[in-house]
Amino acid sequence: MEKIFIAVAWPYANGSLHLGHIAGSLLPPDIFARYHRMKGNMVLMVSGSDEHGTPITLEAEKQGKTPKEFVDYYHNEHVECLKKLGISFDLFSRTTNKNHEKVVQDMFLTLLKKGYIYKKKGVALYCDKCKRWLPDRYVEGKCPHCNFENARGDQCEKCGKTLNADELISPRCKNCNTEPEKRETEQFFLKLSSFKKQLTDYMKDKKFWKENVYRFTMNWIKNLEDRPITRNLEWGVKIPLEGYDDKRIYVWFDAVTGYLSTSKEFSFWEDFWKDKNTKHYYFIGKDNIPFHTIIWPSMLLGYGGLNLPYNVPANEFLTLKGEGFSKSRKRGIWVPEYLKEFEPDPLRYYLSVNMPENRDVDFSWDDFIMKNNNVLVATLGNFIHRVLTFTKKNFEKIPEGYEPDDLDKDVLKKIGESFSKTEKYIEKCEFKNAMKTVMELAQFGNRYIDEKAPWKSIKEDKKGCGTTMHVCMRIVKALSVLMYPFLPFSGKKLQSMIGYKNLGWDDGKTDVKGELNNIAPLFKKIEMEEEKMLNIEDFAKIELRVGEIKNVEEHPDAEKLYILKVDMGDEERQLVAGLKKDYKKEELVGKKIVVVTNLKPAKLRGIMSDGMLLAADDGKTVAILSPDKNVKNGARIR
Ligand code: MF3
Ligand code: ZN
Repeated sequence: MEKIFIAVAWPYANGSLHLGHIAGSLLPPDIFARYHRMKGNMVLMVSGSDEHGTPITLEAEKQGKTPKEFVDYYHNEHVECLKKLGISFDLFSRTTNKNHEKVVQDMFLTLLKKGYIYKKKGVALYCDKCKRWLPDRYVEGKCPHCNFENARGDQCEKCGKTLNADELISPRCKNCNTEPEKRETEQFFLKLSSFKKQLTDYMKDKKFWKENVYRFTMNWIKNLEDRPITRNLEWGVKIPLEGYDDKRIYVWFDAVTGYLSTSKEFSFWEDFWKDKNTKHYYFIGKDNIPFHTIIWPSMLLGYGGLNLPYNVPANEFLTLKGEGFSKSRKRGIWVPEYLKEFEPDPLRYYLSVNMPENRDVDFSWDDFIMKNNNVLVATLGNFIHRVLTFTKKNFEKIPEGYEPDDLDKDVLKKIGESFSKTEKYIEKCEFKNAMKTVMELAQFGNRYIDEKAPWKSIKEDKKGCGTTMHVCMRIVKALSVLMYPFLPFSGKKLQSMIGYKNLGWDDGKTDVKGELNNIAPLFKKIEMEEEKMLNIEDFAKIELRVGEIKNVEEHPDAEKLYILKVDMGDEERQLVAGLKKDYKKEELVGKKIVVVTNLKPAKLRGIMSDGMLLAADDGKTVAILSPDKNVKNGARIR
């Protein structure tokens, strides 16, 4: 038996959860936890609401509430949404909790005593107009690293670097827009610089991490700087020393310690934190990387005797038509709204197969509805429902399997393969591939049943037909287990229909028998709203023509872009296209392509693009669409 500690980024209690939270940091650990529990491993999965910090006070102020009233509301909402979505925390706590405060203060005092925290005079930003200090998100300005104009005082959203507010170029008070002044003040600093060697050693066996997480962390270690871990604020964990009433512990120091404080609510916490064989997984979004691979490990190293993160499979972002979801910017799709209309499992399915594991992924309602209808309902649901209703009608209960033929034996082999593949993927935190593997078994089941055509054999060979349905029921049972980590509500329902309860992972590979009860479809079709469907007239507005690439040059200012000159028959067009990663120049010259010719011309990184070429993109490969016979340049596509 293994012990697995699953740590999940603490969502801020400054607004509702959105689908980006689910795809990015909440669903992956739940799949992981459910799988390991089914395997019989010991799992502790914790998180909570991040209730301190300037994102909270800012938003509370705006709404005319006290910070406490404000976080109470969102914490309760988070708890309810997580439950409805089936995110199975052992504990989802909050940073305003007493025990948490105690553990944070203990962390602070221990590091102070050991010399890893020290006091230093420095400057902070003060707005003379608003008469207050401007920590973190109370100020915005230009990022000193990447020149992004709207970097926040704690972090630049563009380049991901964490910042100190006083590093911003031309800072502005968020409240009144004036430029704050720098005033001297004293803060406590975490001596990150003293952990360079230990962090370097720690990273030695972490080459298996996701490439961006590994690279980002290694770069950070090169330039480790001590960081202030207190702020001039009134909301947050108090500094456990006399004379610092006007300051609070910085929200990140506070929040990351939540992983330990929540664990300490369990009598057995030391099994997870002190036994070297326990593996710690941290599920977070990419903007949280430095806090989990540098700052938190440094704090743990300084404190001593506690396990460090084993893996930090940070996800990229779920985007909405190319733009990030964001609570503070009031853009996104909110979980409470989703749950008013739909069941949790379709969302869990959709976000599993569209998880932003290695790059940002766009969310679209149309695609969500299509995948629900065409895959969840038409493939998985349909296979299961066909098998269950046919079996019930003709055999009443699950028939015995007599002499399996080669095809039947293939099925049993396929089930075994599905299990070992899914296991491998989940253990490597490749949830997208894992979900796809499960769905492949349902597709396989549909092909098997079509080939066997039990609706024919039932008339001539009831025993043979029974064997077929027995084999089908093996697939159904396997699916009820395989789908469970991803689709727990449907998996549970299905198990109960076929007479089982709480099947373990390996139970899914064993024989099946028993009664069938309360059979009902697992998934429902969602009607596409009329206005979302495109009229043929709308489609006809798009003009598509064949062109031939005559010349390819590199874009002077963009790594990924080519500038193409395209012969369109009666004219030549210049297109700018992101093909550099996938095509060499010489592969493109002479190629016939399809161009959208009636788009408004647009500048891409300063160069005019007059049209767009069509290419298919499955996430791995980009392939240009090209007519399969020779047609004249300029030919219309209809
Ligand atoms: N609240 C932070 C965010 O939403 C995440 C905190 S993770 C923790 O970005 F580890 F610090 F808790
Ligand atoms: Zn101001």
